[in-house]
Amino acid sequence: MMSKRNIVVVGTQWGDEGKGKIVDLLTDRVAAVIRFQGGHNAGHTLVIDGQKTVLHLIPSGILREDVECFIGNGVVLAPDALEREVTQLEATGLNVQTRLKISEACPLILDYHVALDVAREVARGNKAIGTTGRGIGPAYEDKVARRGLRAGDFKNMSSFKLKLQETLAYHNYMLEHYYKAEPISFDLLWKKCERYSQMILPMLADIPNLIASYNREGKSLMFEGAQGTLLDIDQGTYPYVTSSNTTAGGAASGAGIGPTELDYILGITKAYATRVGGGPFPTELLYDCDTDKGDPIGKELGTRGHEFGATTGRQRRCGWFDAVALRRSAQINGLTGMCLTKLDVMDELKEIKICISYEQNGETLLLPPSSADEYETCVPNYVTMPGWQTSTVGADSWDTLPQAAKDYIRFLEKEVGVPVSILSTGPDRSETLVIKDPFE
Ligand code: GDP
Ligand code: IMO
Ligand code: MG
Repeated sequence: MMSKRNIVVVGTQWGDEGKGKIVDLLTDRVAAVIRFQGGHNAGHTLVIDGQKTVLHLIPSGILREDVECFIGNGVVLAPDALEREVTQLEATGLNVQTRLKISEACPLILDYHVALDVAREVARGNKAIGTTGRGIGPAYEDKVARRGLRAGDFKNMSSFKLKLQETLAYHNYMLEHYYKAEPISFDLLWKKCERYSQMILPMLADIPNLIASYNREGKSLMFEGAQGTLLDIDQGTYPYVTSSNTTAGGAASGAGIGPTELDYILGITKAYATRVGGGPFPTELLYDCDTDKGDPIGKELGTRGHEFGATTGRQRRCGWFDAVALRRSAQINGLTGMCLTKLDVMDELKEIKICISYEQNGETLLLPPSSADEYETCVPNYVTMPGWQTSTVGADSWDTLPQAAKDYIRFLEKEVGVPVSILSTGPDRSETLVIKDPFE
């Protein structure tokens, strides 16, 4: 039998590390790509021969016609977002619905989740999380509270209707009386659900069994994470996090595969750091693009890196590489290798700083604290290295990289304790250097 490889791709920072690009690149060797957590809060950008596609919910294998795409039970599924994405992709001539399979256990995101997400953010005022406003948190809450509707509920529309009535009555009470917001109309939502059921029913499948069958046939699979490790509900900068387990363990529980079957954990890591939304970010180089005021290097990274959210269009906060955060990420994901992305964005910098520890109340921390409050008093300690001031765009061999760029990469590897196995120096699928193939 051929030897299969199950590869997990996770973001190691605060999201937008370039996961979509790398999943797309590596899927030429797999039978299927499985999303295992998050929802359409994700924005994964794929650029192929200059043509850009942004995916939110559909796995990043969809542009390869012979690859199947699975949405695992860990994903919160917004049927309206799915409908939009399927329509957009099919308009380009792709077969999507025949290749997309959805777990019956996916919790649904419905209109009241979005209304609650928005109302809660307003209520938090200046302590807002800065969510994507997609209803992600409220949908996960319903799942854990065991009152949520799931994709499999579309199989029995009369019981779906009853469950929807009950759940909506509960949430409308909160919306109207606690948040003083508009309630959601049952009739309108029910009509939409009837339509969604037509689209979703043919795509429902037993995802754990499909995964197991492919593996038995010796076929490799790719597990695509969304968001990033520091946004993990348990291990991230709580409460400024998303509502799922973004870490490698989430692949097992959110797809339905035993952890012993996962062969390689690839941590997608930006060569600097970004974060969108609120929450601690010790290495931030504060810059505001609306007023054009703030740190010039923060501005340069954001401008050269086009650091605007692929989902909400919000400006991403930029900063220096944070090895403290990455050490935690390596630890809790069990990273096998890193893929370092967007090195080219740093091409013109004279000097580069790397945060190697935090100073907190007279103590030096090599690992980050566990909650946002404790971050308040953390001050980064930096090491400064010379920049390379040469273009690395599309670099196709390790040997021809500028020495200062190689030194930077080696330093990061040493600080994090994980080797860089892939280097990305441009948005296009082709602008990638595989140093050590995760499939070998
Ligand atoms: P994801 O959410 O992790 O998939 O990442 P996003 O797609 O949200 O954000 C990454 C952005 O950087 C996208 O616009 C990509 O096209 C782009 N990108 C990815 N890798 C590289 C790279 O190596 N260099 C440059 N300049 N851009 C990159
Ligand atoms: P990808 O997969 C970056 C952030 C939001 C907010 C927090 C909670 O493209 O890397 P949520 O809507 O999930 O409740 O918001 O998480 N966030 C992301 N940041 N990339 C993402 O996805 C994100 N998905 C959510 O900005 O701070
Ligand atoms: Mg993104």
